Amino acid sequence: MSAERDTLLAAAREAVGQAYAPYSGFSVGAALAFADGSVVTGANVENASYGLSLCAETVAVASAMNRGLRAGLLAVAVTGGKSHRTAGAAPVTPCGRCRQVLSELAQLGGTDPVVWCESGEGVLEMRLSELLPHAFGPANL
Ligand code: THU
Repeated sequence: MSAERDTLLAAAREAVGQAYAPYSGFSVGAALAFADGSVVTGANVENASYGLSLCAETVAVASAMNRGLRAGLLAVAVTGGKSHRTAGAAPVTPCGRCRQVLSELAQLGGTDPVVWCESGEGVLEMRLSELLPHAFGPANL
């Protein structure tokens, strides 16, 4: 599992380079791993109208779904920040909106992906269901 974790975090780190974050200076990369072996990444895209900014995780989910990926979301890696992976840096955990966006894709395929969030001290590991308990989703409609 740790080789998979390191590989996915490396993909997320590479995605940080694609971030457009001129307003916050907080660049984030996310990587999604699927059961079919696909890895899809995203980085945050900010806007001069600040509230319209898109988080890395949401960009990655939109990209994956636009490639036709609907099932088998197994793992999510998130990294970045102002001082990328410096000692003491807090982990970048998905914001509330991103948890919901990730949950939709996970629920479509019936998985509860592991989420790896990199910090200056190591990697925080959780299940998406821990980040978003009692999630609302397609089954509720
Ligand atoms: N951001 C993400 O892309 N993902 C997260 O998990 C947390 C926050 C972005 C949004 C904004 O562009 C910047 O980080 C600062 O909040």
